[in-house]
Amino acid sequence: MTSFRLFSLRLIFVVFVLFVVFQLNVLPERKYYTHRGCTGPSRSSDVIDKIRIGTTNKVTYKDYLDRPSSDLTTFQEDWKVEATLFNKFPKEKRFLTLGIPTVRRVDNEYIMDTIESLVNNTRPEELKDIYIVVFLADFNETWIEDISRRLNESYPQLISSETLVVIRSWKSFYPSLENLNHTYNDNYNKRKWRSKQNVDYAFIFLYCQHLSTYYMQMEDDIYTIPNYLDVVKDYISEMRFQWTCLEFSELGFIGKLYHSYDLEKLAKMVLLFYEEQPCDFTYLYFNTLMLQFQRYIHRPTIFQHVGLKSSLPGKVQPLKDRFFDNLEKTYQGDNPPAKLYTNLLVQSQNTPESAYYQEPGYFWSHRNGKAGDWFTVVFDDPQRVGKIIVETGSREHPLDRIQHGKLQASLSLVKIDKSEPKCTNNIILGHFKDGLIKVSNLTSVVGPFKIHCISIILTANQDWWVIIKEIAVFLAD
Ligand SMILES: *[C@@H]1O[C@H](CO)[C@@H](O)[C@H](O)[C@H]1NC(C)=O
Ligand SMILES: *[C@@H]1O[C@H](CO)[C@@H](O)[C@H](O)[C@H]1NC(C)=O
Ligand SMILES: *[C@@H]1O[C@H](CO)[C@@H](O)[C@H](O)[C@H]1NC(C)=O
Ligand SMILES: *[C@@H]1O[C@H](CO)[C@@H](O)[C@H](O)[C@H]1NC(C)=O
Ligand SMILES: *[C@@H]1O[C@H](CO)[C@@H](O)[C@H](O)[C@H]1NC(C)=O
Repeated sequence: MTSFRLFSLRLIFVVFVLFVVFQLNVLPERKYYTHRGCTGPSRSSDVIDKIRIGTTNKVTYKDYLDRPSSDLTTFQEDWKVEATLFNKFPKEKRFLTLGIPTVRRVDNEYIMDTIESLVNNTRPEELKDIYIVVFLADFNETWIEDISRRLNESYPQLISSETLVVIRSWKSFYPSLENLNHTYNDNYNKRKWRSKQNVDYAFIFLYCQHLSTYYMQMEDDIYTIPNYLDVVKDYISEMRFQWTCLEFSELGFIGKLYHSYDLEKLAKMVLLFYEEQPCDFTYLYFNTLMLQFQRYIHRPTIFQHVGLKSSLPGKVQPLKDRFFDNLEKTYQGDNPPAKLYTNLLVQSQNTPESAYYQEPGYFWSHRNGKAGDWFTVVFDDPQRVGKIIVETGSREHPLDRIQHGKLQASLSLVKIDKSEPKCTNNIILGHFKDGLIKVSNLTSVVGPFKIHCISIILTANQDWWVIIKEIAVFLAD
């Protein structure tokens, strides 16, 4: 034991002496090498020569960050004016810019429908609060002329009020799209498409950076819901802390909302890694570097992909956003004031109230339905009801309808015990068929009595979650 310790001490001492000798020899020279990395030792006169020659031929830190450059004035003075096809570069600062880069597709053009869906679903008075910037990011002049002519014909008012801004770029803005780094095992065409797309995105970010307070990117093949701007505004005002990116779609780079003041940084980062990363990965790293460590995705989402064909020729992408759905109420009952109760686990965004009140949305349980699960509407005051319609499941989730269930009306409420209403004098009104139940002529069933509770009760287990899309209650005259 002692001899081993002695040996260790000697060994440490020897190593220490060697280290000191090495430092004494090497340190004076190291001063010159600190900027040369691991190139290994070389004669000190070389180093002094290099210092004397100066740094004129060196790539500076700024060059490094700027290559490919985010300062497009080095390519073209006034590039924003040159890039704008109709009118001048817009000057007025608005609330939101929707940026849509688009390239020519071989079979289907979706861009006209995408713009139509955005315009259709914006209130006319809100069109002056937004810019829709369409970036024709293709080098095919014929196509650029064709699309810009069609936009000019379809939206003369929006173009003259500068809500619709159409822009283009030039090949000289793009860095080399040859010999691209081989990453993600993407083939050559995919790498080229991906890298060009990054530069397209950076271009539109830089163009839009001073147009508005917020910026949201779209793809050219999406559709949206009525008054999507309300959802965006509400989500922004719900945020009680600093955020970098809010998402209104799960997919790709659709419906990502940024503060416009972050766009230049984002453009630089996308450009810096234009060869290595597709933008729909880069933005997630960007968000983390901006200290947003989780994603804020608004559910239900409000933008859906239509394009089955990607803008990369031959690439089919049957991507659909799981959280996009038909949220509008179909039957629009009188629905008198009521409280809603259920024993089902509730998804935070899909409250029981969403099934009953008129705002877009629906109730969605967070687990499979079981026999005996209940969902009860308790009217604030008993009502004379003429007709009830309950629709379950949704367009995107048809299997989440109630497979086996019944509808029950109760004439009396005994009490509400720990969020569970006790209703009596029950009358079974009928059973669900294909997720739907309609009961008319209710007054002939209940006679002169008023109804206090309406309950939906599952009569068998089911393998799916439960969506109650709409409960429409029509009062008797
Ligand atoms: C936009 O609205 C018009 C008129 O209501 C309708 O004909 C058209 O289909 C709508 N387009 C889209 C893409 O929703
Ligand atoms: C350019 O676009 C036009 C119109 O979309 C198309 O007919 C033509 O073939 C395209 N040219 C090339 C070189 O792809
Ligand atoms: C756009 O359309 C208007 C007519 O609505 C026409 O006067 C104008 O020349 C068109 N602009 C371009 C650039 O085609
Ligand atoms: C990326 O490409 C450059 C230039 O072709 C090359 O020097 C570099 O080694 C490549 N990097 C990777 C990670 O492949
Ligand atoms: C409702 O009542 C009316 C007349 O009272 C009758 O004509 C009609 O068929 C009834 N509807 C249903 C669904 O029972």
